[in-house]
Amino acid sequence: MLVELLYCSVSTSPVLAKTELFRILESARRRNLEVGITGMLLYYRGEFVQILEGKQKAIENIYLNFIGSDTRHTALNKVCQNTILIRSFSEWTMGFVGEHEIQSRMPFTLAGILMNMLSEDAKTKPLSIGTSAFISIYNQMRKSPYN
Ligand SMILES: Cc1cc2nc3c(=O)[nH]c(=O)nc-3n(C[C@H](O)[C@H](O)[C@H](O)COP(=O)(O)O)c2cc1C
Repeated sequence: MLVELLYCSVSTSPVLAKTELFRILESARRRNLEVGITGMLLYYRGEFVQILEGKQKAIENIYLNFIGSDTRHTALNKVCQNTILIRSFSEWTMGFVGEHEIQSRMPFTLAGILMNMLSEDAKTKPLSIGTSAFISIYNQMRKSPYN
């Protein structure tokens, strides 16, 4: 069974060094490739939002045992976990959207609103709104009319 899992977290260091981000992405991509996980990681001003998709067992294992125990972030907040029929990020072992992409391609306010919406939704509406918002960020970044 395929599932998607969306969570938010907060970086332990207020300004995460680029090298640290690359290190996270490198090991994430290596393991994700091994276990058939795809998805996207967004990092903006000290906060992470990540969507993971793959077989339920693989997702739960990575989330609990690797992502959950990584001390480079804290305050993990699982926004939602849904069964899906097809993947939205099939071409990415872990796509990445960082500050640079957000600032150069999206109006600042929109990025801020989206980030807020995702973390607020986590508390009040725990269903797939977060997921579709996240996917729409991705689509917007790809076909960015602001560039
Ligand atoms: C924000 C964030 C996202 C992560 N995403 C993934 C992921 O998608 N897949 C994964 O296996 N590990 C992920 N991790 C965990 C680490 O990348 C890595 O598994 C852990 O540090 C151990 O890596 P190593 O076995 O290469 O030493 C993430 C960690 C953080 C902080």
